[in-house]
Amino acid sequence: MSVVDEIQTLKREKNAVILAHYYVNDEVQEIADYIGDSFYLSRVATETNAEQIVFAGVSFMGESAKILNPEKRVFMPDASADCAMAHMADVKKIEQMKQDYEDLAVVCYINSTAELKMHSDVCVTSANAVKIVKSLPNKNIFFIPDGNLGWYVKEQVPEKNIILNEGYCPVHAAMTAEQVKTAKAAHPGAEFLVHPECKKEVLTEADYIGSTSGIIAYATKSEKKEFIVGTENGVFYELKRENPDKQFYTLTDHQVCSDMKTITLEKIANVLKNEENEVFVSDEVRKKAMLPLERMLALAK
Ligand code: 13P
Ligand code: SF4
Repeated sequence: MSVVDEIQTLKREKNAVILAHYYVNDEVQEIADYIGDSFYLSRVATETNAEQIVFAGVSFMGESAKILNPEKRVFMPDASADCAMAHMADVKKIEQMKQDYEDLAVVCYINSTAELKMHSDVCVTSANAVKIVKSLPNKNIFFIPDGNLGWYVKEQVPEKNIILNEGYCPVHAAMTAEQVKTAKAAHPGAEFLVHPECKKEVLTEADYIGSTSGIIAYATKSEKKEFIVGTENGVFYELKRENPDKQFYTLTDHQVCSDMKTITLEKIANVLKNEENEVFVSDEVRKKAMLPLERMLALAK
């Protein structure tokens, strides 16, 4: 039996679904029941009737799915797949900021540990951060952990005092204005689409800034035929699938999230078969970390 057949059989036996982020390997996206950006996948996790969720993504994604669905069993194909940025904020600093600003809202990018979520007022993803921050009654916002997404939100919501944190995504923050210049010179007719985790010097050169699903939707609707894409290269699978007549170019030759790429079909088959790498979250953590996630789901509607 092929590994794909084995996965399909095990999925039926276990009443399981496979959720995959756009950054995972093509062959994993191909067999997934749901593929999407972080926001879409967090919503799917709350809506599925399956008993088991196999999350082809990094640890904060599986952890968030478990927090939102304590009665379901959530499994990670590779327990070591993590997001470096998810750890780049400090609880002591958050508590200090709450003392410094009476009306502070701590806005936490979903790319964060459950511990950081426990100390936050609301979660956001790149697809809804601007909308949610705009809708908050608070004037003072501490945006964690991503300083680049925070900068982008600050630009879009000038009426708020958004205090930035120094976290960053190593994959997106490595992209530079110099590379944008070179890519635009090589493809003069192309539109430049980027993820808001990129640095300001890259974002200011973009024709479109948005989440992975936003980038796919924009390219699909655009009348242009060529695009330079500044995000992790797993997104090219869906971009090309939906737009076979269009050309997509990477901004650099190393826009790869190695953690996302550790997920393989064999690892998915293994967790389905042996029920390894199950995600567990203590009741105490879950109760506190669930509140900002549920608030995000409500405010993003
Ligand atoms: P999306 O919210 O666009 O899925 O991005 C998640 C992510 O990890 C970006 O690096
Ligand atoms: Fe985290 Fe960056 Fe990988 Fe996204 S691409 S999961 S932000 S390390």
